Amino acid sequence: MSDGSSTYITTPIFYVNDVPHIGHAYTEVAADVLARWHRQSGDDTWLLTGTDEHGQKILRTATANGMTPKEWADRLVESAWKPLLATVNIANDDFIRTTDERHEVNAQKFLQHLYDTGYIYTGEYEGYYCVGCEEYKQPSDLVDGIGEYTGELVCAIHSKPVELLHEKNYFFRMSAFADQLIDLYESNPTFVQPESARNEVMSFVRQGLSDLSISRSSFDWGIKVPWDESHVVYVWFDALLNYITAVGYGQDEENFSRRWPATHVVGKDILRFHAVIWPAMLLAAGLPVPKQVFGHGWLLVGGEKMSKSKLTGIAPSQITETFGSDAFRYYFMRAISFGQDGSFSWEDLSARYQSELANGFGNLASRVIAMVVRYCDGVIPAAATLTPEDELVRDTGRRVTDAASEAIDRLAIHEALASVWELVDELNGYITSQEPWGLAKDPANRERLETVLAIALRGLGTLAVLLSPVLPDATAKLWSALGGTGEVTDQRLDRAWEWTGGDSVTPLQALFPRIEASVG
Ligand code: ME8
Ligand code: MG
Repeated sequence: MSDGSSTYITTPIFYVNDVPHIGHAYTEVAADVLARWHRQSGDDTWLLTGTDEHGQKILRTATANGMTPKEWADRLVESAWKPLLATVNIANDDFIRTTDERHEVNAQKFLQHLYDTGYIYTGEYEGYYCVGCEEYKQPSDLVDGIGEYTGELVCAIHSKPVELLHEKNYFFRMSAFADQLIDLYESNPTFVQPESARNEVMSFVRQGLSDLSISRSSFDWGIKVPWDESHVVYVWFDALLNYITAVGYGQDEENFSRRWPATHVVGKDILRFHAVIWPAMLLAAGLPVPKQVFGHGWLLVGGEKMSKSKLTGIAPSQITETFGSDAFRYYFMRAISFGQDGSFSWEDLSARYQSELANGFGNLASRVIAMVVRYCDGVIPAAATLTPEDELVRDTGRRVTDAASEAIDRLAIHEALASVWELVDELNGYITSQEPWGLAKDPANRERLETVLAIALRGLGTLAVLLSPVLPDATAKLWSALGGTGEVTDQRLDRAWEWTGGDSVTPLQALFPRIEASVG
């Protein structure tokens, strides 16, 4: 879409019990690519990310480290979670912490409203709880432990024992919303994506919903329940509300209606919270449900989800320090079908860096620009009569511009990149077949040489614009070497193919330099 419409994209807010790994960076990059794409398509775009700081998991980690939970959260936010955004070049518009006053105060307003309208009642919870998931568990969610936990029931995700709770709690009447949720999934087939996620959520809700315990009273690290200060709000109920408190719910209705509803990009581990509990909360409050919930796959290590609690995480900086943030962004967006699981490997990353980024794209850009410097003194030539080969390059530019935008509308980021890469490949083939260095040998071919270089430069301009959401650093350099006016990020994506060139080029250093050291 490119009609100035509102596009509000969110990432999960991450737990600050530990530092981020590449799984968190993956979600950040995907959301950022979508947001940059929409921003550059003229949409009124807002990208939100942040941190989830309440609950037992954080409280225990902080206590174990001899700090208050707030001290711990402050330290992790400043030393790890905000720096992550710079590491992978995220252009977020806001960063919310659940300890922000704007969140706590307005989350309480939301709760009070549900209480006043009869959707919250007093009850008693007896059952299992996994602190790793911060989730109430059914016996069917548990598996037999192994190793040190043999003989115990453990969480299937964290492989650690769950706790048996018996508490007086406040409950949210979620069971009342099963039918409305089914209607929502049926009438809006893209509400939960991908299809596998939608099916899972639908069959879950079809079994009926129970009411949800939404407060805890055995510890106090959380938002106080406004009508009963001996309880704190269940951390997920608190956390989900960040998506509306960040854009003005309860205090800036104008901004709230400008931004809301959002597209939520989350990992499939937290799909149900976003596709079931969250829309039920909003329905109860009489607010619009999210626009869409996309549950992406997991980065796997040895076939299992890479995880903070299992200490299998790879720090994003381990990759970016060698390959740069653009390569990080490109690799994960290109190599993994968005929505599917994927395994990271240093070999695959190095191979794609070399063949696709360094040789395929970077080298193409440097060579074409070097030829314009050499044969035309850097002055960008004009195209004369076009041959079918020239026209094919132009048509490809136009076709991939449209195809990439269409793929992004379906959140198929990998397909958008694959489409754009058709132009990279087309241009490489074009340079090989047209042999501008051969044309340059005979002044009689001058016009043909200039046409070939003009067509190739135009293709590079199209690539700079189309790739800027994924490769912001490289495309900024390329744009400036091409003599493009303004910033590449100001160029409309949906018109990327129309770019006709600046006045002159300046030499371009390798966009993706050779990496000598062995890595991994
Ligand atoms: O769940 N592969 O926070 P969290 C891909 N605070 N993505 C991964 C991943 C992996 N191996 N590991 C983590 C929470 N992620 C809550 C969210 S939202 C209102 C509250 C990413 O720190 C992925 O986005 O456990 C996943 O959903 C998220 O981190 C979980 O982060
Ligand atoms: Mg988690």
